[in-house]
Amino acid sequence: TRKASSPPGVMAASRRRTSAEFQGDGSLMPPSAHVVASPRGGGAPSREEHANGGRPALRGANPRGGSSVFSATKLTGRRRPAGRMPLRRVAIFASLALNVAALALLRHRYVVSHPHHPGVVSLDQQHHVCAPQPGTSGAAASAPSTGKPGVTSDSVINLDHGDPTMFEAFWRETGDAAELVIPGWQTMSYFSDVSNVCWFMEPDFDQQVRRLHRTVGNAAVDGCHVLVGTGSTQLLMAALYALSPAGAVQPTSVVSTAPFYSWYPAVTDFLRSGLFRWAGDANSFVGDAYIELVCSPNNPDGAIRDALLGSGGAGKAVHDLAYYWPQYTPITRRADHDIMLFTMSKSTGHAGTRIG
Ligand SMILES: Cc1ncc(COP(=O)(O)O)c(C=O)c1O
Repeated sequence: TRKASSPPGVMAASRRRTSAEFQGDGSLMPPSAHVVASPRGGGAPSREEHANGGRPALRGANPRGGSSVFSATKLTGRRRPAGRMPLRRVAIFASLALNVAALALLRHRYVVSHPHHPGVVSLDQQHHVCAPQPGTSGAAASAPSTGKPGVTSDSVINLDHGDPTMFEAFWRETGDAAELVIPGWQTMSYFSDVSNVCWFMEPDFDQQVRRLHRTVGNAAVDGCHVLVGTGSTQLLMAALYALSPAGAVQPTSVVSTAPFYSWYPAVTDFLRSGLFRWAGDANSFVGDAYIELVCSPNNPDGAIRDALLGSGGAGKAVHDLAYYWPQYTPITRRADHDIMLFTMSKSTGHAGTRIG
């Protein structure tokens, strides 16, 4: 049957596409065997088709080119005009064309109605992804899936405070193995261990703190007291209070080598104590009644530090070892100082528990 609705040009395009499909164009799906038109223009099955159980054989590009306007079947010897195709083939081709058109239409509608779906990059988004934003170098300027602003070469890292939320993924993955259960009957009394200097501290906690430091090797614990506080910030305030002579004429100067942890001045002066006051950079301190805050590794530059002024005479040192853990720095020696501050904020990342 002649199908005038399938002009030779359409068939030629169809053949070219078929050829592209078998040449490994990844963007095109291999068509079903029924859609494969004979490179010779369709018609009676070829020898390969017979060898394939009557179905058309899948083959590569037509070695003889696809331009012949007639196809000759080797079996019958009859020649068939190029424009004549079986009705079934034309129907399949028309159905395929309609499906492709419908898919294109559906995709267009979906993009318009779901412009922010992760799998959909709208033209507007493409502009943001490809085009550099004003004032940036052009690195990923679009917001990632977290909703946080994208990092560019112009991004500023705020070192003002270190919220250890980067540990959260680890603890989530750890799951039940890190679950804590606190029975309702526990910690009823003010006194956990009246024989201990820190009488409100759970004896188990004391033992686990020592065990951890022994395992990591970052602090001497034998012969030392373990004291617990509301974060190491409270312990720092307690240390300043304990180390400042009560009867001194002047408040004791509290110093630290610059650059120092930005909260030291505020924490020192927060309670407006008459016993101690912030006195700035240890390098420029003159005098012998002082408390030196030694942060190692240092916040903000990570430097490994020793006391600058020494702990002799009226001078005393408080070692803030919040970051002296192997995830931040190699543990090269067992720290052994009179006062060493550690905190769960930095060791395990549980800043919200407020345990120092
Ligand atoms: C050097 C240093 N010490 C102490 C703290 C405060 O620790 P905590 O959360 O235990 O009060 C921080 C917090 O960022 C810190 O960087």
